[in-house]
Amino acid sequence: MTIKALAFDAYGTIFDVHSVIARCEEFFPGRGNALSQLWRTKQLEYTWLRSLMGAYEDFWQITEAGLTFACESLGLQLTGDKRSRLMDAYLHLIPYPDVAPALKHLQHLPLAILSNGAPRMLHDVVENANLSADFKHLLSVDSVKIFKPHASVYQLAPDTFGVAAEEIGFVSSNGWDIAGAAHFGFCTFWINRGKQPIDRLGSQPFRVVATLHDVADALKKMS
Ligand code: LAC
Repeated sequence: MTIKALAFDAYGTIFDVHSVIARCEEFFPGRGNALSQLWRTKQLEYTWLRSLMGAYEDFWQITEAGLTFACESLGLQLTGDKRSRLMDAYLHLIPYPDVAPALKHLQHLPLAILSNGAPRMLHDVVENANLSADFKHLLSVDSVKIFKPHASVYQLAPDTFGVAAEEIGFVSSNGWDIAGAAHFGFCTFWINRGKQPIDRLGSQPFRVVATLHDVADALKKMS
């Protein structure tokens, strides 16, 4: 098997979504972690539910809706200023420490982000992290108006790269995303950042690794 291109999930894989905890904690002392966890949980649930409902809204709107729910659920007063500064934090998420150095070792392949993120969110978060030069494409679900793990999202990568799904390495830390991508036919690399068990969704990751460096090493061994 030859891998001819790589597609990466963004949130949770390249960017640490819980890097918003600092700002959550600043606004709601002692509640930062709980808010960040519930915010992410509701954000993902809303993507799946809206996909099932056939009621797409972009990921920026979904992220804001998740924040609103999470604050209300935790009894936290979300003023207009706090709302806009917490949403802004999503454009300045911090990449995991392995990301920038590992991406440098993968530049012999065309690299894309393939994400639920709305186009402007992806553009800004990648630019703010100084990673723009590393990715040839930023592929957003917004062009198909449905979220992962719908097959039409994953199809964006073969269509863009012009290579078959099985020749594309798909890298994600989200176990459910890896299951969807493997089911679609990608060669999947699960960066198990959360040390989670494999999701029981009928497919297995091609490789389970700890960091992005391990993806580069695994690719070297395959070539
Ligand atoms: C993404 C979500 C799944 O970036 O984290 O697509």
